[in-house]
Amino acid sequence: QPIYLTDYTPPAYLVDDVHLTFRLDPTATRVISRISFRPNPDAASKRFFLHGEGLKLISSRVDGSDIDVRDVENGIEADVPDAPFVWEAEVEIDPKNNTALEGLYMSPQDVGESNASGRDSLPAIKPMYCTQCEAEGFRKITYYPDRPDVMAPFTVRIEGDEPVMLSNGNPTGEGDGWCEWTDPWPKPAYLFALVAGDLVAREDSFTTMSGKHVDLKLWVRPGDEGKTAFGMEALKKSMKWDEEVYGREYDLDIFQIVAVSDFNMGAMENKGLNIFNTSAVLCSPETSTDANFERIEAIIAHEYFHNWTGNRITCRDWFQLSLKEGLTVFRDQSFTADVRSEAVARISDVIALRGRQFREDNGPLAHQVQPDSFVEINNFYTATIYEKGAEIIRMLKTLVGDDAYRKALDLYFDRHDGQACTIDDWLTVFQDSTGRDLTQFKRWYKQAGTPRLDVTENWDDGTYQLTFTQTTPPTPGQDVKEPFLIPIAVGLLGPNGDEVQATKVLEMTEGTQTFTFEGLSYRPTPSILRHFSAPVILTRETPPEERAFLFAHDTDAFNRWEAGRSLAKEVLVGLVTGEDTPQSLYLDALATMLRNDDLDPAFRALALQMPGEDDLAQTLFDAGVTPDPDAIHNAAETLKQARAEHLQDLLPRLMADMEVTEPFVSNAEQSGKRALGLGLLKLATRLDGGKAAQAQWDRADNMTLSLGALACLLDAGKAEGPLATFRERWKDDALVMDKWFMLQIMHADPEDAAATVERLTEDPAFTMKNPNRFRSVFGAFAGHPAGFHQKDGSGYRLLADWLIRLDPLNPQITARMSGAFETWKRYDADRQGLIKSELDRILATDGLSRDTTEMVTRIRNA
Ligand code: ARG
Ligand code: ZN
Repeated sequence: QPIYLTDYTPPAYLVDDVHLTFRLDPTATRVISRISFRPNPDAASKRFFLHGEGLKLISSRVDGSDIDVRDVENGIEADVPDAPFVWEAEVEIDPKNNTALEGLYMSPQDVGESNASGRDSLPAIKPMYCTQCEAEGFRKITYYPDRPDVMAPFTVRIEGDEPVMLSNGNPTGEGDGWCEWTDPWPKPAYLFALVAGDLVAREDSFTTMSGKHVDLKLWVRPGDEGKTAFGMEALKKSMKWDEEVYGREYDLDIFQIVAVSDFNMGAMENKGLNIFNTSAVLCSPETSTDANFERIEAIIAHEYFHNWTGNRITCRDWFQLSLKEGLTVFRDQSFTADVRSEAVARISDVIALRGRQFREDNGPLAHQVQPDSFVEINNFYTATIYEKGAEIIRMLKTLVGDDAYRKALDLYFDRHDGQACTIDDWLTVFQDSTGRDLTQFKRWYKQAGTPRLDVTENWDDGTYQLTFTQTTPPTPGQDVKEPFLIPIAVGLLGPNGDEVQATKVLEMTEGTQTFTFEGLSYRPTPSILRHFSAPVILTRETPPEERAFLFAHDTDAFNRWEAGRSLAKEVLVGLVTGEDTPQSLYLDALATMLRNDDLDPAFRALALQMPGEDDLAQTLFDAGVTPDPDAIHNAAETLKQARAEHLQDLLPRLMADMEVTEPFVSNAEQSGKRALGLGLLKLATRLDGGKAAQAQWDRADNMTLSLGALACLLDAGKAEGPLATFRERWKDDALVMDKWFMLQIMHADPEDAAATVERLTEDPAFTMKNPNRFRSVFGAFAGHPAGFHQKDGSGYRLLADWLIRLDPLNPQITARMSGAFETWKRYDADRQGLIKSELDRILATDGLSRDTTEMVTRIRNA
C-alpha cells in the first residue's frame, strides 16, 4: 500500500487554532482537543478526515453537539458543516505501554525489571513523559490532520503532579497541578512536543541580534547536571552562527532542550522544545570521548538550525523531507567547518557519506533524494535523504557561488516564511535569484545511484585535456539514468607541488566531456574533485607514484588525504587478490606525512586511519571480485602490522608530542592531538603487546584516553581486568555502559564476535527496550563485517533472531537495523543463501510491522 508523490492533494480543511488539554496518567492519559477548522478554498475534496491510531475515543463534538464518527483506515471521518466549525474530542492513551517510542511515551521504560537506565545500584528513577511525533506520531496522541501542510498555532494545558511540565512555545500560565504553554507560530503537528517529569535545568540566556532576550534551558534528570555545560555552549554558538552566517534570529522568549534516555534517533527539532537522545546532548570529559563532543555540538546545531529550515519553513509532504533535512545537514556541516577545522570536517563528512550513503546507494535500498513513493515514511530518514541531500545543497552553492547562495537563501526565507514547501519551490528560488536553469540539476533529486566518473587525460605541446565520462548504475525501479550536472573542482600541480592552475570548477553536463587547459610549460599533475565537489565515485587509473606525490604535495587538503587513502586501499586490494601492491611506497609516504609537523595532528590522524573493511568489500565488488570478509580482515591485519613495524622509530617522539598537558577541553586542537596519539598507540600496541596502552589506561583522566587504551588492551588480549574495572566504575552511567558493550564487539576476533554478542545480551545490563543499548550491541556487530559475515551463518541467524524479537516492541529500530543485510548481494552464493533464508524467516513472522516488512522486502527482492 505505497503512497505516491503524484497523488498529493491539498487538505480539505485547514486549522486556525488548536487547544489541547493533557490529563497525565501513566496508563490512561486523557487528551482533550478543541480545534478550529475551516474548509480549504483550494481543495476539491470536502471529506473531513482525521488521522488517529490506537486511540480510545471517549467523546466527540462539532460546534458543541455530539457527533458520530466513522472508523476508516488510519483514522476517522465525520459529516461536518461546509463552514468554519469547532471540533472537540476526548481520547485516552497509554504512554506507559508505548514501547515503539512514537507518540506520547514514558522513559525509562524498564524500571523495576532490569537496569535499562544503567543505574542498578541507585534508587529506581521515576519515568518521565515525553513525545516523538515526526513523522506520523501525533496521530497516536489525538485525532488530527497529521500532515505537515496543515499548520496552526497551539495552546497546550498540562494537568498532572509532575514537578516539571513543558510544551512548545512560551509559558502562558500555571497553577496548582497545571500549566499552560502557547506557541504563536503556526506549525505542523509533527513539531508538537510535551515533556513532564522530575527534571532539573541548566539555565542560561542569549541576546539576539536585535536585542531580544531569550531564556535557555537544558533539562536533564537529577544527577545529570554535570553533563550539560558543553551542550549549552554549543547552543549559544549555534544561535550566534545562524545570525551571522544566515541572518536568522530566534523567535520565541524561551528555547528548551530535554534529554531523554529512550529515543529512537539522535534528536528532534520540536518548536522551542527540542528533545534529544541523552547520547546526543549529555557529555563530560570523564564520561565522553572527543568524538561524542563533536557529534553533540553538530546535533545541537542541527536541531537549532531547523527552527528556520524545517519549522518556519516546513515541508508540504514527506516526499519533500530532504528540503529540510538536506539543507539543515548542510548548515550543520558548515557550522562544524567554521567552529572546528574546515579540512578535517570535510574529510570526516566524506568518510561518513561513503560509509553510509554510498553503501545505501549501491544496494537494494537505493532511492531518490526525492522518492516517488514509500510505504512507511520512517524508513526514509536515510543517509540518502540527509547526507546526499546535503551534498546537493553544497553542489548548488559551488555552482552559483557564495554571494548568490546567500542572496538565494534570503529570498527563500522571505518568500516562504510560514509555508509548507516543496523541493521545486526551493529550486525555483535559486532559478529566480540567479537566472540559472536548474532543470538538469534537479536530476540529483530524482535519480538514485552514485555516478561513476571516469577520467582520461591527454597532453600535447602545452595543452592538457581531461576527458570525463559519467555513468550511473541502475537502481531498483530506475534502469536508465540521464547525465547529471556535475561540478568538478580541478587544480593542476607542477613538478614541485606548485599550483599551475588554481582550483577551478568545471561544469560537466554531458555523458562524456572534455575540458582543455592551454599554455602550460610542462605536463601537470591533476588534482581532481577537490574538496569532494560532487558525490561521485572517481574511477581514474592513477599510478601509485602519482598518488604518493599528491599525498605529499596536494594543496587541497581533502585531495591530499584522498590520495593517501586510495593508496592504502590499493595496497589492501593487492593483499586480498594477491596482485602486486605499492606497499613500500605507501609506507614511506605515510611516514613522511606523519613526521610533517606543519600538518594539523587531526589531519594526520585521519590520514593514518585505515580504510574500513566494508568500504573495501564494495571496492572489490565494483572491481568484479567477490569479497571475502575474512580475507579482507586478514589483509587489514597484515597491513596494520606492516605499518606498525615501518613506523616503529617514529612512535616515541610523536607520541610524546601528542600528549596534552592542559586541562581537558574538547576543542579542535586538543582532540586532534588525542586522535593522532590514539592512532599511534594502536601501532605501538602491535609491537609492545599492550605496555603503552596499559600505562595510558593507568593514568588516563578522561574517557577519550581511557577508552582508546581499553580498545588497544582488547586488541592485545589484555583487557579482562580493565573491562571489569570499567564496568564496576561506570555501571550506573548508561551512556558509558553503551561504550562498554560496543567496544567488546568491535574488537572481538571475527570467529568470536557472535559469541561475544550472545554473552553480552545475557548481561543483566542488556535490554532491548533501550535503543541506545540495542544499537551499541547490534550496531557494533553489523559494523564488524568479518564477524557478522562468518561463513557458518551464525551472525545472520543471531541478528535475525533479535530483530524478530524486537519488532513487536519497536518497529522503527528493527527496520533500521535490518539494513545490516543490505549488502548481501555482494557476497558468495553460500552467504547469499544463508542470508536469504534469514530474510525469509523474518518476513514469515506473524504480525511483522509495516516498517520491517517494507525494509526486509526491499532488501530481499534485490
Ligand atoms: N527531524 C529529526 C532530525 O533530523 C529526525 C526525526 C527522525 N524521525 C524518524 N521518524 N526517524 O533532526
Ligand atoms: Zn534534521
